[in-house]
Amino acid sequence: MSSVVHISQTPVLVAKNVAADLANSVKRGIPFHIALSGGSTPKLLFDYLAEHYRESIPWGDVHLWWGDERCVAPDHPESNYLMTKESLLRGVILPPGNVHRIKGENDPEEEAVRYADEMKRTIPMKDGLPVFDLIYLGLGTDGHTASIFPDRMDLLNESAVTAIAIHPESGQKRVSLTGPVINHAAKVAFLVTGEGKAEKVSEIFEQKDGSELLPASHIHPVHGDLTWYLDRPAATSLRF
Ligand code: 6PG
Repeated sequence: MSSVVHISQTPVLVAKNVAADLANSVKRGIPFHIALSGGSTPKLLFDYLAEHYRESIPWGDVHLWWGDERCVAPDHPESNYLMTKESLLRGVILPPGNVHRIKGENDPEEEAVRYADEMKRTIPMKDGLPVFDLIYLGLGTDGHTASIFPDRMDLLNESAVTAIAIHPESGQKRVSLTGPVINHAAKVAFLVTGEGKAEKVSEIFEQKDGSELLPASHIHPVHGDLTWYLDRPAATSLRF
């Protein structure tokens, strides 16, 4: 596994960097399975892709999945799918069958199973796990990623590919990929911006005492590559 860090001056330049790397990764005629993240940072990327990469990425070969989703309806303001629909999908066209949303309106337990089955039917498998070509992740200020929160470190080694998580503050239920699936991807990319993340970025990169309690510090693709895309404020505490 290789680990690379890209630091850009601003969040928009992070989005520009990530978009260019994505365009270099998707090969025409070869299905490319991406798991998207929710949150504010990925939205910048999705807007940038919708604006600048409508034609230069073969979107017909791209399959969109989600690393996690809030258990809400697809038109709910907190839906990760809605955020993607209103940013990326307003600008790029994918075959409807290539958009594999987590159905937040369904019973969470049933949806976790349904979504897992859809992955297993659609994404190439290895060692019993779907192998995503790329998984985008964010980093919470508590060190969570996807919807693996610090009070559920067990999800990092969960045998099932999906799990139900509960946001520790809001109590909101989420369906999330589990650690083994994330660490089985060909490439994992963290998109992290803002000074508010600097402390956690530093804890993780410098493996400070207590960093082992942060779910994001346990993301190490077994066979794949790990890339961190940071803006300058999020990287401010790093010592290179
Ligand atoms: C979600 C995300 C979550 C997010 C982090 C960071 O559904 O909320 O999957 O893991 O990536 O909370 O969010 P920001 O990028 O908005 O800080």
